[in-house]
Amino acid sequence: MSEQRSVKSIVPTRTVLEGGGFKVRRPAAMGSLMSPFLLLDEMGPVDYAPGEAVGAPWHPHRGFETVTYLLSGEMEHEDSQGSKGLLTPGDVQWMTAGKGIIHSEMPTKKMIDEGGLMHGFQIWVNLPAKDKMMNPRYQDLTAADSPIAEKDGVWARVVAGECLGVESSIDTVIPITYIHVKMNQGSDLEKSLDSELNGMVYVFKGEIEIEGKSVSDGSLALLSNGSSVQFKAKSDSEFLILAGPEIGEPIARYGPFVMNTREEIIQAIEDYQNGILA
Ligand code: FE2
Repeated sequence: MSEQRSVKSIVPTRTVLEGGGFKVRRPAAMGSLMSPFLLLDEMGPVDYAPGEAVGAPWHPHRGFETVTYLLSGEMEHEDSQGSKGLLTPGDVQWMTAGKGIIHSEMPTKKMIDEGGLMHGFQIWVNLPAKDKMMNPRYQDLTAADSPIAEKDGVWARVVAGECLGVESSIDTVIPITYIHVKMNQGSDLEKSLDSELNGMVYVFKGEIEIEGKSVSDGSLALLSNGSSVQFKAKSDSEFLILAGPEIGEPIARYGPFVMNTREEIIQAIEDYQNGILA
């Protein structure tokens, strides 16, 4: 008998401008609330005029993973390990910064020249202390190779973990579930979710219901414990299901570095300044 998860609390979102003027929508409260996720940014949607598109030029990271998933637009990624990749709609890039990486995340030249609609997600996944200084690695999951689960009125891209018996090939350091779900109005979905994991749902279109509680566009619902979640679509809707284990360690955070102690942050800054971070 599965124990249904319910909505423990709802975190509203706010829209902010990041870096060079990049519009993101993010939960108004994050931090340990979303453990093991450190950040959940919905990039756009924004319709750029020619010459307007902006990105994040070269910057470092240490101690966690950045996961980029594009819904519309085109982005280019390049890093200090020599990895280079193009992201088009449906593509996922799972970058484990580990002990350090310097990278750039920019719209393609075509996107800058011609403009167009940019929409996607960047999520930061924390790493436990024992893995924070692991060697960096980079995994790509193209839209063509992406596992899709479907049943009456429900479509789901399995970025990480499993949904409706379909599994992702992404190798995560800690057990992560990351599913993009689209549901037609009136459809339903039951998703099993390991009781050990913290679970949350970010709605970015329409309205769904979880155990009698409505969650609408622009809200992050934090879920109670349980082994399963029951979703009902009150309208045509889209959302992300995110789950992962509680890391339960102190978080020391400074810009692009997320470690356990202040000393480790100072070390990261020094390593970056001395050119030995990557
Ligand atoms: Fe980055």
